[in-house]
Amino acid sequence: MGIIYNEKFKTWTLQTKNTSYQMKAGNLDYLLHLYYGPSIGDADLSYQIRQYDRGFSGNPYASRNERTFSLDAQPQEFSTQQQGDFRTTSIEIVNSDGSYSFNGTVTDHKTWKGKYKLDTLPTVFARKNDTVDSLQITLSDPISNVQILLLYSVFEEADIITRAVKVVNGGDQPIHLKKIMSVCLDFLNGAHMDLVSLPGRYGQERQVERQHMTHHIHTIGSVRGSSSHQQNPFVILCDRGATEDYGSCYGCSLMYSGNFLAEAELDQYNQLRLVMGIHPKQFVYQLKPKEVFEGPEVVMAFSEKGFTGLSHLYHDFYRYNLCASKYVQEVQRPVLINSWEAAFMDFDDTKLVEIAKAAKKMGVDLLVMDDGWFGKRNDDNSSLGDWVVNQKKIQCGLDRLVEQINELGMKFGIWFEPEMVSEDSDLYRAHKEWAMEIPGRRGVRSRNQLALDMSRVEVQDYLIKSINQILDNANIFYVKWDINRSLADIWSNALPSDKQGEVYHRYILGLYRVMDNIIKTHPDILFEGCSGGGGRYDPAMLHYYPQYWVSDNNHPIDRLKLHYGTSFVYPISSMGAHISDSGKLVPLRTKAVVAMCGTFGYELDATHLTEEEQQLCKEQSDLFRKYYPLIFEGDYYRLTNPFELGNMTAWQHVAKDKSESLLSVVVTNLTCNGPQEYIRAKGLLPDAMYTINGNREAYSGSALMNAGLPIEREVPEYTAFQFHLEKVRIEGI
Ligand code: GLA
Repeated sequence: MGIIYNEKFKTWTLQTKNTSYQMKAGNLDYLLHLYYGPSIGDADLSYQIRQYDRGFSGNPYASRNERTFSLDAQPQEFSTQQQGDFRTTSIEIVNSDGSYSFNGTVTDHKTWKGKYKLDTLPTVFARKNDTVDSLQITLSDPISNVQILLLYSVFEEADIITRAVKVVNGGDQPIHLKKIMSVCLDFLNGAHMDLVSLPGRYGQERQVERQHMTHHIHTIGSVRGSSSHQQNPFVILCDRGATEDYGSCYGCSLMYSGNFLAEAELDQYNQLRLVMGIHPKQFVYQLKPKEVFEGPEVVMAFSEKGFTGLSHLYHDFYRYNLCASKYVQEVQRPVLINSWEAAFMDFDDTKLVEIAKAAKKMGVDLLVMDDGWFGKRNDDNSSLGDWVVNQKKIQCGLDRLVEQINELGMKFGIWFEPEMVSEDSDLYRAHKEWAMEIPGRRGVRSRNQLALDMSRVEVQDYLIKSINQILDNANIFYVKWDINRSLADIWSNALPSDKQGEVYHRYILGLYRVMDNIIKTHPDILFEGCSGGGGRYDPAMLHYYPQYWVSDNNHPIDRLKLHYGTSFVYPISSMGAHISDSGKLVPLRTKAVVAMCGTFGYELDATHLTEEEQQLCKEQSDLFRKYYPLIFEGDYYRLTNPFELGNMTAWQHVAKDKSESLLSVVVTNLTCNGPQEYIRAKGLLPDAMYTINGNREAYSGSALMNAGLPIEREVPEYTAFQFHLEKVRIEGI
């Protein structure tokens, strides 16, 4: 188990509970990739690679007159540059002499217990009882003296392997890095594979798309300066026949919040290469002698049990090995109400207290004051950057406002958009040079705001100081951290002209530094990430925040798709989901059932609800609290695909010990005189008997999973059902 090095064959086998991953220092000490999939032990799999003269594929000079060895046809762990491999590369480097070349072979390796760390970027971590082993393989180019350190950590019980890469300039002159991919995953036969990704747009994030591999490079990525709404740094390669429950699925999830690229190339021999890492667009990173560049971590998983099997691996792992916040496990998260859709920026302290009083009756624990509380902000044209309370709106002062909310027995939360600046702000007037604008040109405006140059230390320090000051001076329980535009005008006034190709990445490093400081200074605050809804919803963000706003689109029927897509990789406990006024035809109860597939809360003016509605909300809030352990820690199953034609969408949470389950159904499409519909449960114990919603009759797990549950017909439009299944305890057993 763990990492097995076979000296005779020069193979490394990374072994998790159910998977094996094998590499070999092969011909001429090139690092070849031999296998990733179900456990096969540590037998050398190099017999898989057949060498023959490929024609028009180069042979390394060191192979002399031997024409059968070409890197163009070798499965590799880290593909070289300009060495006769014409597929997409792991690296593009400009050496100090101006040559574009990297030819690295294995020169060293070491293993150790525990997880590797990166100095500049967030990573997953090992928990106390996890069995984790790590490996570092060094690839060296003797001509340029550039070294690549390939890092692997093997999480045995979790069936997870992480990878990262470091580039070391071992020469005595600067070099320039133009592309560095964190993972290269080669398959000897990829013609039968599909690529699944999570594209979207504002309001419709992480919709699921699946495409057959064909003979070209399929690229997925973002060049918006953030991981974006439009794509997500997560891909699956799966068997063409893979379904929710069956088939081989490989996942790669990149821990990075900036520009990223994934390329899947099916080559002339039906070999498949997947690379993933920082997007090379406008990326030129200078490395001086002895300097090290770190690429972000990739979290890999393999499952033979279809998309559900793969999602469960990621959910279990990201739930507990990603974010150190106490709200991950130790402390239950509150039911919140957010002021945004209740009042937008038109509020004052009195209005907020009124909303809180009404929300209290609905069983809400936390009031969040969203955008509009600072500077002189009454619309989105001003004040970003001026993180001081608007005394005209919050006349009693922030401290007193928070006290009033606390006196109601509720907690208080606040909104920030730290990375942005309005031209109409004291900050911009004082420090125009802190905004990202290209010299001599005016910046591209988006939502009428500019981005701050987060790569700049003074900007980072200003944000750390001004945000900490607010958080230190009132009893703040929760922070929503937003970013509402994509980046353009990539320029830093603090860097010389030959280092502008580093700004995209340095922005992200600066952002991580600010977040790290503020979050570590306030370990008791619950943080939620947001980017115009669910842009930048990525694992690096979830390293800092235990939860993330899924989308500004609160329409419950759209939310069915949003939750479905997001759940392919991110755990339900990370998904911010609220009930709002959106979806006038959808009953309040259905909205609540949908919002329970996430952190649950409200995004409406509670003072406008009738007493009856407030009472219904109270019941739903209490129900959410009751089911919280099941929803947050249980296994999640997608029972239907809302992108396919059907009359209902269903999903299910199952306790790890399978003693109970919550099965939810929303009728999305009513047909006149429609057929009887059945929903088949998943994940139950086949031989156990389960009661439903406390009724006396019990049904076997196998009946519920194979025959299914009949769903009541002829119900009003958008009716929702929740079935709470409880395993019958048989006396004496
Ligand atoms: C973004 C967020 C919203 C809200 C507004 C405030 O759009 O997604 O939830 O916070 O900003 O401006």
